[in-house]
Amino acid sequence: MVVRMRGLRFLAFAVVIGCSLAACGPSVSSDDTGGDDTGDGGNGPDAYQGPRGGIAGTVWMPMHSPTQAPKGGAERGRYLVDHVSLCGDCHTPRNRFGVPKQSFYMAGADEKSGPLGEAVPNITPDKETGIGDWKRDDIAELLISGTKPDLDNVQGLMYEVIQGTPHGYKDMRKEDALAIADYLKSIPPIKNKVK
Ligand code: HEC
Repeated sequence: MVVRMRGLRFLAFAVVIGCSLAACGPSVSSDDTGGDDTGDGGNGPDAYQGPRGGIAGTVWMPMHSPTQAPKGGAERGRYLVDHVSLCGDCHTPRNRFGVPKQSFYMAGADEKSGPLGEAVPNITPDKETGIGDWKRDDIAELLISGTKPDLDNVQGLMYEVIQGTPHGYKDMRKEDALAIADYLKSIPPIKNKVK
């Protein structure tokens, strides 16, 4: 009886080891590892763009973020800018390896280093080269309606992210747009002339 028990245990042990060596169970090909964890709706490996897979891949990539969203003020703005709407994916220039240059946080990029060959304005509070003379309402208005303080309409990629497919910045609550404005007004002004 004792001998038989030991035999069974050994058998179980052997099955476990055997499984891990021979990969029994559902077979996983390397193609399947792409990831439903990217929130791409599980469209298979081809839909996964990766963190450096261009605008579509980078803008909506989940990043490290606080477990609870701050409820209001510039702290909520920071959370929305850095973790939800990812403004820096376009407004912070990248080096030649594609890594954002943090010393130019939100300071804009010219056509050469900007996303998809588009120049992106400096949105730090620098008065001369950024948006230091915009009021918080001006910034919130632009995010929701796409209209600049000079009543011009915003163009290109910024227009696209405001409109969204189907949801864009235009759908955010006014308080959130104002929180983003408060945060942008609190970041260090950086002199960087883009246009
Ligand atoms: C997909 C790229 C992209 C993303 C993401 C993006 N922007 Fe922009 N943004 C642009 C481009 C390009 C322009 C210039 C549009 C134009 O010239 O009409 C622009 C223009 C602006 C302007 C107008 C500045 C000026 O001097 O005219 C503001 C303000 C702005 N963006 C704020 C934001 C904020 C805040 C976010 C995040 C909530 C954000 N943007 C996210 C690409 C982007």
